[in-house]
Amino acid sequence: MDKHTKIILDRYSADQTDGMPIYDKNYLINRYLNNVINLNELSNKTLFEIGAGCSQYANIFLDTDLSKYYANDLIESRLELSRSTDERYYEIIGNFLNVEIDNKIDFVFASLTMMFVVPMFDDFIEKIDSILEKDGVFISFDPNYLCPLSFYRRFKDRKDNPARIFNPFSYSKLFIDKGYRLDKLIPFSGPYPTLGNSWITGTSFCMRVTKL
Ligand SMILES: C[S@@+](CC[C@H](N)C(=O)[O-])C[C@H]1O[C@@H](n2cnc3c(N)ncnc32)[C@H](O)[C@@H]1O
Repeated sequence: MDKHTKIILDRYSADQTDGMPIYDKNYLINRYLNNVINLNELSNKTLFEIGAGCSQYANIFLDTDLSKYYANDLIESRLELSRSTDERYYEIIGNFLNVEIDNKIDFVFASLTMMFVVPMFDDFIEKIDSILEKDGVFISFDPNYLCPLSFYRRFKDRKDNPARIFNPFSYSKLFIDKGYRLDKLIPFSGPYPTLGNSWITGTSFCMRVTKL
């Protein structure tokens, strides 16, 4: 196993919640998802979530008419909190780079996961591309390190931290160079929507790209 993946395993194997707050579904829809997706778009579609451990989005996606939701995480115990008995819920444990699925996917989603795999961006994007349908959509949410507050938060954490500083514009260009259409690249702040809509003050950013 590579050193970087070992840091992720060490950090996340012990604590399933990582002290995270639990958010109201409507808050996540209005402040986060609405930036990049209308949930009606998921009707009869498949969605694959990379790094879905403790996903607070899983139940929101399963509230829609989507046909299948795949939860993938490196660490099985991370999926305990978000596991569902819904017959459309399907788990794939292990490194995303090694995932094998027979059918192509309509939506691939990653929340706070791409920041962990910056050293493997090329491999990740190749893998995302390999599982996406033509016209399929990839959506991600990550910290916006152009915002000084996010930069400060990253280094305030003194533990071995797999999150790497990366530039949202260079990141989106990796997809554009692969032939994707950039639909959205938006800085925002969940808690402070009116303050967060610039690249200096928005602590997070979301991206939506379409495979042409
Ligand atoms: C910061 S957590 C985010 C979890 C969740 N998506 C959320 O929004 O709260 C990142 C997750 O990515 C998972 N992860 C990291 N590298 C991965 C990989 N190569 N394949 C699959 N999952 C991975 C970690 O185990 C962890 O559960």
